[in-house]
Amino acid sequence: MEKLENIFESHFGRKPAVLSRAPGRLEILGNHTDYNEGYVLSAAVTQSTSFAMAPKAGRVCRLIDCALSGEFTIDLDDMDTPRKGDWTNYLKGALVELRRRGIEFGAFDAVLRSTVPLSAGMSSSAALETAFCFALKTIYGIDLPKAEWARVGQAVENKYMGLQSGLLDQFSSIFGKKDALILCDFRSVEVLKNVPMPPGYSIVVANTMVKHNLVESDYNLRRKSCEKARDAIRRVHPEVRMLRDVNREMLESCRDKMDALDYRRALHVVTEDERVMQGVSFLEKGDIRSFGELLFLSHESSRCNFENSCPELDALVEIARTIPDCLGARLSGGGFGGITIHLVRHEAAELYCNRLKSAYKAMTGKEAQTILCDIGDGASAQPL
Ligand code: GLA
Repeated sequence: MEKLENIFESHFGRKPAVLSRAPGRLEILGNHTDYNEGYVLSAAVTQSTSFAMAPKAGRVCRLIDCALSGEFTIDLDDMDTPRKGDWTNYLKGALVELRRRGIEFGAFDAVLRSTVPLSAGMSSSAALETAFCFALKTIYGIDLPKAEWARVGQAVENKYMGLQSGLLDQFSSIFGKKDALILCDFRSVEVLKNVPMPPGYSIVVANTMVKHNLVESDYNLRRKSCEKARDAIRRVHPEVRMLRDVNREMLESCRDKMDALDYRRALHVVTEDERVMQGVSFLEKGDIRSFGELLFLSHESSRCNFENSCPELDALVEIARTIPDCLGARLSGGGFGGITIHLVRHEAAELYCNRLKSAYKAMTGKEAQTILCDIGDGASAQPL
């Protein structure tokens, strides 16, 4: 593959000042817990988005995306309104958000390339936002704490794109650790610990190829449900700030005080938080089988209680259960389509992918795409 620096140079006739990269992420366990201030076990993958960038005079920024033809522009004086279907919205949103924080910056030329599958549930948009922010912060000397950069990316989604997502995607893209899962606490917004990947096991991603567009899905509705359940519990337990503070007993005792649907949504979140903590302790004891079982339980809870699965995601998980080399599988990310993750014996992984794909084809008539994932480090930027 041609080096990004070279593409930059041949297009703009000068050298870039920085190279940055930010990975996609996998949500291993802890579904829809982040915006409830709960726990998630996640990982950064080696698929990433990279930028080569240099500062530029004037107010108009120029961009090349290696996957698309032509040059794109961003006018720094005309960014307030997102344009429908325009991928540069993710960058404009970040610039608007920085400006809102009183941060100064000028224009730039940039080339970008991404290997993160789009609209699958591997956070291609967080990788785009984060790689962009890391390049920009290097050329304009913008100094913010790492977790704050995750908030900038989240604000792009919340305010610019209209998706009320949590911090998981950008946070994992920034704080990922090679060969480890990261245990994230979304109340204190920190990594509590790095949990090494179980030796001999790999994560296989299987994409249903059913596109998940979270902005048009019920994602925001699910978040509303969680808040309604929280409010009902708070009337009895005023100390409760978010579902993170709720255990199963509290939830049960307030069951008749809330809408039956909101109860099921909250049950998913509360039990996911439990599963994350249990999962970490299983991994630390080397009990991979019990950890895998938690992945299946998580999927079941998504399917029945949170209702963010779909027949194709269910099919992949059902098939996984029939193949002994797989210890656990579940939908990963927002849901409503996108990907499943599978914890598979490393030696058998390739064979596993083939079996999964042919069974999926037989069951649904659709072609799944599988990726044997390597767990990589979080975002970085290198001045040139
Ligand atoms: C999407 C959101 C995240 C998180 C997951 C579900 O990926 O962007 O903030 O809520 O869904 O866990």
